[in-house]
Amino acid sequence: MNLQVLIDTAQAMVAGGKGLLAMDESDGTCNQRFASTGIPQTVEMRRAYRELLLTTPELGTCISGVILYDETLRQAKADGTPFVQVARDAGLLVGIKVDTGAKALASRPGEKVTEGLDGLRERLQAYFEMGARFAKWRGVIAVDGERLPTAACTSANAHALARYASLCQEAGLVPIIEPEVLMDGTHTLARCQDVTEAVLRSVFEQLVLQGVALEALILKPNMVIAGLAAAPQNTADEVADATLQCLLRVVPAALPGIAFLSGGQSGELASNRLNTLHLRPATPWPLTFSFARALQHPALELWAGKEANKVEAQQALMHRARCNGAALKGEYSAAMETR
Ligand code: 13P
Repeated sequence: MNLQVLIDTAQAMVAGGKGLLAMDESDGTCNQRFASTGIPQTVEMRRAYRELLLTTPELGTCISGVILYDETLRQAKADGTPFVQVARDAGLLVGIKVDTGAKALASRPGEKVTEGLDGLRERLQAYFEMGARFAKWRGVIAVDGERLPTAACTSANAHALARYASLCQEAGLVPIIEPEVLMDGTHTLARCQDVTEAVLRSVFEQLVLQGVALEALILKPNMVIAGLAAAPQNTADEVADATLQCLLRVVPAALPGIAFLSGGQSGELASNRLNTLHLRPATPWPLTFSFARALQHPALELWAGKEANKVEAQQALMHRARCNGAALKGEYSAAMETR
């Protein structure tokens, strides 16, 4: 492992006012999204959709890297060019989701622990050889009043994230650490802040215990927001203040960057909140985005599985990428949405 190479990669992932495009839905999740849009759930349609995303003109002006799924990493454009090459030609770093999903946590109803550590060392070596330079692992933490999360769930997910991160760095891949406090539910912003802070504390404790170099990882947290079913929702200013207070309390300044997940927020809300975060005093780390749904959603709907809609769908993806790029400079406004 060459630490400086890892640090350089991590910094490149969050540099230049760019963010990450998460397009690493597992086959099952991708199929679910296709089903809700009436798109046939086949390998070829998943390939065609990923080709659409990766060949979006000018994607590299706002996006530093793409997170792929195992199936996608092995696929190619219709003309035979491997997707890894397509990404590189567009100036995009290639990342790979390596967890094997969140599974029910024994004896803790309603909670999950993310699996995928078995055989991970060998898989990471193979992914590196295929061109991946960073990886992603997502742990999910459900909130239910004061009942969830349990300490068992928090600590099991933090432990797995740290074991994964250590193996990634050994293999020459920058780990993205994604401990997602879910937005489902009616909990308040204050409750989300408490849970997020406790989860991040546990994650950093485990990262240090496992000897992970903090200079060579990217944190992918949730923004601190009230549950999606909570009423009323908070303002962007309240979200930004709670998110920053939470992160400043627990995230070491040594980190090269933080890239938020969108977690079910609409594209506009996610851009607006990201923008508000950049209207605050500078943080020790660059704050950027690593969105899936908040970047892809309009594009997927417009495409609807039809080649004739490809250009319009690519324009919709690029529009969201540009909105988030503007948000990183504090220059996003609702006016950008009326294009
Ligand atoms: P969302 O932005 O849709 O939450 O997805 C981010 C991600 O990578 C999930 O693991």
